[in-house]
Amino acid sequence: MKTIHTAFLGLGNVGCGVYRLLDMQKEAFASRSDLAFSVDRILVRDLDRPRRVKVSRDRLTVDVDEIVNDPDITLVAEFMGGIEPAATYMERMLLAGKSVVTANKQALANAWPRLSAAAMKTGAGLYFEASVCGGIPVIETLLSSLQSNRVESIMGIINGTCNYILSRMSEGMEYEDALAEAQEKGLAEPDPTADVEGADATCKLAILSTLAFGKSVTVDDVYCEGISSLTREALQFGADMGYTLKSLAVAKEKDGRLQLHVHPAFLPNRHPIASVSGAYNAVYIRGNAVEDIMLSGKGAGDMPTASSVVSDMVKVATRQVHPAVDFQESNRPYLDEDWICGNFLCLHVEDKSGVMAKLFGILSHYGLSAASVTQPRRAEKAERVPVIVTTYPCREQAMRAALVDIRALPEVGSVLRIRMEEME
Ligand code: HSE
Repeated sequence: MKTIHTAFLGLGNVGCGVYRLLDMQKEAFASRSDLAFSVDRILVRDLDRPRRVKVSRDRLTVDVDEIVNDPDITLVAEFMGGIEPAATYMERMLLAGKSVVTANKQALANAWPRLSAAAMKTGAGLYFEASVCGGIPVIETLLSSLQSNRVESIMGIINGTCNYILSRMSEGMEYEDALAEAQEKGLAEPDPTADVEGADATCKLAILSTLAFGKSVTVDDVYCEGISSLTREALQFGADMGYTLKSLAVAKEKDGRLQLHVHPAFLPNRHPIASVSGAYNAVYIRGNAVEDIMLSGKGAGDMPTASSVVSDMVKVATRQVHPAVDFQESNRPYLDEDWICGNFLCLHVEDKSGVMAKLFGILSHYGLSAASVTQPRRAEKAERVPVIVTTYPCREQAMRAALVDIRALPEVGSVLRIRMEEME
């Protein structure tokens, strides 16, 4: 039996899940691959903190050098989260010739070139299936299974917190209540900013796009809008028209350049990812040969994430080849001027003659074409009423310019603009 001596960096929820899964699967590893994993050292911040798994205290350490300098340890699994010190610790492990398995999207999205360079220098492996969409094998799909394709686009629901909140809002909850419920259930962090404002999805989209398009994509290349200004009312008006609101991560290649966006968008209900609800994730990939495929499952949680981490550990142990990522590409991929999409405007306007004419005058001035107009109810005296205007797909810059003028109209109160993807 071959024993792989490993170390963990961190022992939080995911680390504990990995520890448990290694134990649950140990007979299978022995019988299938004649393999055993030994977790020799675990780097923690606090030696005395109670933990969800039983680990003998003499395996815990607060000194990362004990792991770097241990020649028996050939595989290190990282669960610390955050960019630093995690990235530097991983780089040191790789430079010491130890393969690294990580679930850390922030460190990867921000320090990938130097981690990859360290791995190439020593021939150690860098594995990161768990960094995007927890238990969904999307990294392996892009790195390996779709090598025969030119990927044309990716559209994903890659943040479970946002998807949960939007799903609850579509059932009638206000944003604040849905967020509070997600926090009570442990789906959203006490500080939900990284999830609801899109930073989490931005890191994940940068990683997926780098693999899908073979270009070095950083978080700065991704345009990002969060979900915190959305209203239950707008979701329900969209639902009445046959649309589902999702926080989407979208990457498209056009003429060799990329468009990379994270933002809320309405999708027609018939789109396959429109029905992926709650905390579930989905990634919809279009390739030139395979056409459309969709992967869906749990994008977070200790055991789904452990599923990806442990599979990567088995790949390291069985020496399965992991293609290195080339970071030579230098042109910036973001291309805002060619961004074309449909729009859903939820406006509150004074209910009097001439308001619609002014609105349409502005749309016409910028060459925008309305696809539908609805005023769901009449106003009581002096009250503003909701008006929903959708446009056919148009240039982003023209829509932005029109919105500045629409917001300046004295008859117009609030204006909520939501993009529409995959409109006919
Ligand atoms: N917080 C993330 C989500 C999971 O809500 O999907 C970890 O990336």
